[in-house]
Amino acid sequence: MRQAVYESRGAEPHTRIRCVERETPAPGAGEVLIELLAAPINPSDVLTITGQYGSLPPLPAIGGNEGVGRIAALGEGVTSPAVGTRVLMPIAAGSWVSHTVARAASVVPLPADGDVQQLAMLTVNPPTASLLLSEFVSLAPGDWVVQNAANSAVGEYVIQLAKARGLRTVNVVRRDDMVPVLAARGGDVVLTDGPDLAARIAAATDGAAMRLALDAVGGSATDRLAQSTAVGGTVVSYGAMSGEACKVAPGSFVFRNITLRGFWLAFWFRQATADQQRAMYGDLAQRIARGELMARVHRTFPLAQVQDAVALAAAGGRNGKVLLVP
Ligand SMILES: NC(=O)c1ccc[n+]([C@@H]2O[C@H](COP(=O)([O-])OP(=O)(O)OC[C@H]3O[C@@H](n4cnc5c(N)ncnc54)[C@H](OP(=O)(O)O)[C@@H]3O)[C@@H](O)[C@H]2O)c1
Repeated sequence: MRQAVYESRGAEPHTRIRCVERETPAPGAGEVLIELLAAPINPSDVLTITGQYGSLPPLPAIGGNEGVGRIAALGEGVTSPAVGTRVLMPIAAGSWVSHTVARAASVVPLPADGDVQQLAMLTVNPPTASLLLSEFVSLAPGDWVVQNAANSAVGEYVIQLAKARGLRTVNVVRRDDMVPVLAARGGDVVLTDGPDLAARIAAATDGAAMRLALDAVGGSATDRLAQSTAVGGTVVSYGAMSGEACKVAPGSFVFRNITLRGFWLAFWFRQATADQQRAMYGDLAQRIARGELMARVHRTFPLAQVQDAVALAAAGGRNGKVLLVP
């Protein structure tokens, strides 16, 4: 079997990870052997290798946090899930592996149909998009939401889930070539970021009130969202792709009563009941299997090329996700 492992943290994450050969483990009593089908490289995976993420596994560590595999063998006493069943890769165990062993009772089976690469991106970004739309501001059909980094996977899921809930989206990107892509995905308004963003949003939406703004960029981009948000509105910081601290002008807080909040999916996992988690993933998995929810894939790499894959995933200007496949 192959594993993508790293033994140190810091800059240039692609230089720290490498693919190593190991003995394929045999599943013990109550366990299953899972064979990887596809696993994405998310910004959080890159930050975990650079050491900038909110939780860091002990070293040496296996890269990755989500993906899809199939049951390859059953340990003693295990009758289900059957060999061949597609399941989520165990979370927080390192998903950039050709094989892994997990407790049979803990694996999450997936719909038999549906695109494997799309299902491989289920665990992290779709629930993030869903919760960003529901946990901060009570929105009704017809309401508007504004987001930056809108061509990210989260951003695309926000567009699709917002549309399914009757919400309208203003989508801010930093590249002109992403405007038609997001319009085709269902974005109601798509604009490039810039100093006059609030005025351009007001013009494009006939002055509609943005009560919820989603910020994955940080730095001065946060204040451009705050200036675009209605008086009393909420800006939610859930990512920092610029690597900079959120900047919000005092006038946005004082004269426009903007609230700035944070979101981390890890906290939701800690407080959501098992039933709530099952309901969330059941709904999202079905939407993905039906093709109603998707994110673009830029390129796939075999595990043996994990260094090239991480270098590409850590760079901007992609046309979707980078995925590892066996
Ligand atoms: N808080 C949570 O629980 C949670 C959960 C999931 C994801 N996230 C965060 O959500 C964000 C998006 O994740 P993802 O997996 O959807 O990302 P992704 O698909 O890999 O896309 C990355 C996005 O970031 C943009 N970007 C990269 N560098 C940038 C910069 N310097 N300034 C502005 N934009 C920049 C990219 O724009 P270009 O295409 O133009 O390069 C692209 O839109 C990340 O920050 C991630 O950490 C947070």
